[in-house]
Amino acid sequence: MATPEAAQPSAASITPHTGKLGIMIPGMGAVATTLIAGVEAIRRGYAKPIGSMSQMGTIRLGKRTDNRTPLIKDFAPLAPLDDLVFTGWDIFGGNLYDAAKTAAVLDRDQLDAMKPFLESIEPMPAVFEERYVKRLTPKHQKVGKNKCDLANQIRNDIAEFKAKSGTDRQVMIWCGSTEIYIEQKPVHQTLEAFEKGLTEDDPDISPSMLYAWAALKEGIPFANGAPNLTVDIPAMRELSKKMNTPICGKDFKTGQTFIKTVLAPAFKTRQLGVAGWYSTNILGNRDGEVLDDPDNFKTKEVSKLGVLEHILQPELNPDLYGDMYHKVRINYYPPRGDNKEGWDNIDIFGWLGYPMQLKVDFLCRDSILAAPLALDLCLFMDLAQRTPSLRGLGIQEWLSFYFKDPDAAPGVYPEHDLFIQSMKLKNTLRHIMGEDLITHLGLDYYGE
Ligand SMILES: NC(=O)c1ccc[n+]([C@@H]2O[C@H](COP(=O)([O-])OP(=O)(O)OC[C@H]3O[C@@H](n4cnc5c(N)ncnc54)[C@H](O)[C@@H]3O)[C@@H](O)[C@H]2O)c1
Repeated sequence: MATPEAAQPSAASITPHTGKLGIMIPGMGAVATTLIAGVEAIRRGYAKPIGSMSQMGTIRLGKRTDNRTPLIKDFAPLAPLDDLVFTGWDIFGGNLYDAAKTAAVLDRDQLDAMKPFLESIEPMPAVFEERYVKRLTPKHQKVGKNKCDLANQIRNDIAEFKAKSGTDRQVMIWCGSTEIYIEQKPVHQTLEAFEKGLTEDDPDISPSMLYAWAALKEGIPFANGAPNLTVDIPAMRELSKKMNTPICGKDFKTGQTFIKTVLAPAFKTRQLGVAGWYSTNILGNRDGEVLDDPDNFKTKEVSKLGVLEHILQPELNPDLYGDMYHKVRINYYPPRGDNKEGWDNIDIFGWLGYPMQLKVDFLCRDSILAAPLALDLCLFMDLAQRTPSLRGLGIQEWLSFYFKDPDAAPGVYPEHDLFIQSMKLKNTLRHIMGEDLITHLGLDYYGE
């Protein structure tokens, strides 16, 4: 029997991207404002979409001798940036010009050039629970008789936005704070239990889950930029499949983990051992403040720690990675703001066990790295929703390229190696567009 992978879909089956695409963002802080201001700057021709694979990346089609390498955005039917309309929710009132000033990622002159546009977007009151983010005090919050009522208020917001904005399609992307660490409970196991939990105000249903549930109920794809459990639970996978609506997550792969998922595959492919990997960061933005709480940091820690185990597979390579010590720290250090510094000290060993060290000092900008990932996710999730062979799958594993801790089907370990993830993404695009997959075998160049 043909597997779904072998069945060749056709580009003609993808619904065209007519009309506007609404981007709905719970959490309009540093990442969201940098995304929105950035898209507007690009639309006005002030800047280029650097860091965005969907906008600047190319894709090889056919053989190396064919010379067919279009831009991804010219190959796949992605919504153009001119068609994006933004809205969202936050616990802080005010408009996005003020929020972007507070985030202090972009230069004041750059923001001033787009002031009326940014002032025209005001976050809607949020669904928030202080237990989940203790370091923030809400000013702009919904009240409701239980979690079901609050989630239905989000559904009403969605319906109003659809009507007022005139958008034909919507995508939701969580750019809100990292919530405290929770593990899966019975309430997360089935949709029925989850919906019962909503009416019973179950404490294990977090605010991010309310947004995700509301989006999926409305047939809107949901991407998770934070390490929260959110859609990585059976109940949400069930709802996603039932509604034929894609989900993906979790935790944008921006700085240290991005580099880690480049270096670890390099060590592994050369069969070099790793004795220890110590990663530390200083970060001074609001995200850093939230992560200063141990319960919130634990969520991020778990997301960051899984990477090496999956790439290096100590159980298959005990001599090289069996005793590896992996530590990750994040320290809140206000003077640096959004300009994070991440250090890695890596103790490796080679031939006959002789030790060596590698030091990485990445002076990065957190939201400058995250914004293009958020943009790509919105455009690709919209594409997934319009693609019959993708939308019914639930988790969009081909988008694991963008995540520190990619959601994957139960029983399937996630791929963390950045280059495997990139191949998976590009082959998925080739597949849905009816092009040959690229295997890099290449023997046919040397035949008769
Ligand atoms: N910037 C990066 O490089 C990066 C990388 C990976 C993950 N992330 C994650 O992305 C998220 C956003 O990061 P950021 O730097 O923009 O943080 P931020 O603190 O600047 O913005 C988050 C916003 O979410 C709001 N918020 C919190 N709970 C909310 C709720 N229930 N409903 C609506 N709004 C809510 C906060 O008020 C805040 O304005 C964080 O979870 C962060 O861990 C960021």
